[in-house]
Amino acid sequence: MAHSPIQHYLQALHARLGHLNAGEVADYIPELKQANPNWFGICIATQDGYVYEVGDCNQPFTIQSVSKPLTYGLALEQHGEAAVLKKIGVEPSGDAFNAISLHPQSGTPLNPLINAGAIAACSLVAGDSMEDKTAAILESFSRYAGRPLEIDHKVYQSESETGHRNRAIGWMLRNFSVIENDPTASLEAYFQQCSIRITCRDLAIMGATLANGGVNPITGQRALAEKYVANVLSVMATCGMYDASGDWLYRTGLPAKSGVGGGIMAVQPGRLGIAVFSPRLDAQGNSVRGLAVCQALTADLDLHMFDASQRAIPAIRRATTRRSVKSNQRRTQAANDYLLSVGKKLRLLQLHGALTFASIEPVIRTLTQDSENADFFIVNLKLVQGIDRTAADFLAGIRTELSELGKILLFTEAGACWQHLIDAGVAREAFFADDDFALEYGENQILGAGFSSPAKSSHTPLAECDLFLGLSTQELAWVDQHLVVRSFTKGQTIISAGQASNELFVLTQGAAMVSISTQDGMARLDAFSSGASFGEVAFLDRSPRSANVTALSPVVCRVLTREAFDQLDTQAPAIKIRLLGNLAARLTTILRQTSRELASLK
Ligand code: DON
Repeated sequence: MAHSPIQHYLQALHARLGHLNAGEVADYIPELKQANPNWFGICIATQDGYVYEVGDCNQPFTIQSVSKPLTYGLALEQHGEAAVLKKIGVEPSGDAFNAISLHPQSGTPLNPLINAGAIAACSLVAGDSMEDKTAAILESFSRYAGRPLEIDHKVYQSESETGHRNRAIGWMLRNFSVIENDPTASLEAYFQQCSIRITCRDLAIMGATLANGGVNPITGQRALAEKYVANVLSVMATCGMYDASGDWLYRTGLPAKSGVGGGIMAVQPGRLGIAVFSPRLDAQGNSVRGLAVCQALTADLDLHMFDASQRAIPAIRRATTRRSVKSNQRRTQAANDYLLSVGKKLRLLQLHGALTFASIEPVIRTLTQDSENADFFIVNLKLVQGIDRTAADFLAGIRTELSELGKILLFTEAGACWQHLIDAGVAREAFFADDDFALEYGENQILGAGFSSPAKSSHTPLAECDLFLGLSTQELAWVDQHLVVRSFTKGQTIISAGQASNELFVLTQGAAMVSISTQDGMARLDAFSSGASFGEVAFLDRSPRSANVTALSPVVCRVLTREAFDQLDTQAPAIKIRLLGNLAARLTTILRQTSRELASLK
């Protein structure tokens, strides 16, 4: 297997920044002094769960303050945004992590990522005892990491024995009724939370879990309700690096959180989780090598969230009309000519990418503007990777607007978007399996509104069948004598894929369709009513049948066997020439339509 240039890049970065020896290992929690200052790991986990690692990525260390945004998320899940905002603010303190930064009036901690806010968040975690709270926190963190995590009891002990400042903070919070009972259980749970043993790899996966909307991309397990991910990432962006948060966001544009164990977890929302482990800390308590690595990654890989080059990809991949695409429903030349002439009345939009406000706006604008001249809209969602509530609401909204004008908007191949659109109020009948059926429905609507087709008897005389057009009465009599009659009930299979192809079929009554099975289910290739012929391609090249033909109603066919067809060479060559001419005309029509459709793909 080839070596990944991305792995090469990370190895080079690790080698380059491994020489950075500024900073000191934390020692105010004595046990932390045991850390080897040269430990150094860089890890990137992608939103779909692929992990790049270089250096000491499996060296255990304690999570410390990187734990704080995760506990904040747990408190939000357990109490809701409003209740938590009453207890903990979201303003950067501009102070050190262990400053007693409380709101002058309310006494509430300014944000959940300074110790005061983190202790308050711990007090909100369900459970009266330290054990209950810690169990809930461990269970939550383990979902982020995708493996069961444990507490480093030596570090916990060391912190609990020396955590006097945090205890003071705890009692201050009690004093302001931010914590409404004895803070001891919350304090001990906080110390345990900070002492959870992780690795750099765990941290990257935790970051990727946040990047992936709260779902661990490796285990698929949800660690945080999607609606709170933005809350957690917001405070990480503004407060995650304490009194260096402004400089951090300016240089990296990534929400992040550091810890005195030497870890930094950064997140590129929707894309990446980044983790760096190096115990050498600067004056703010942030890993020196961690800062340098993340700034280099942002600069080298264009990760900055506010980088305008990451513009929304317009969702419209293809916009076309009935002039270029058509259903597989075979229609009379007159009907096809009419549909071609009013082709602009039917619009087909194929969307792709992630549907959010920025990408759906051009779609809504197009549908709104096109509503002047078009009556029928098909929006294909097959290539859409995701849709958010806003985009679903606006699609539902424009469908309602159009229907109030008597215009129709259908969705095809909705896949994962279906439930979002249903939740946004789109009716079930607005969904069609694929463009073919939706186009046929649209064509029928447009024909019904403006095309008066000559009344068609249920039975089509041979003279009016496509294959026999232009034959003389005498020739028709010869054909009539040599054709076999076959009848089929509705739903009955007329031709199965793989069968030998020794018959050519002419439909004189009813309707039928040609279909193949695909991984997405049945795909319709052709549909036709009486007067049409079918099975000619395999009949002509003598290959096995490549598709199934099913009766859509009671069907009567006249069948030309290979034997009768071969007899024509000697008995009626003029008829054979006429038949082959008609077949060629039909195949030309198919080819012309296919190239029109291919051209519209460009
Ligand atoms: O409360 C403390 O002081 C530690 N358990 C956590 C502090 C920390 O990680 C600050 N981060 N840079």
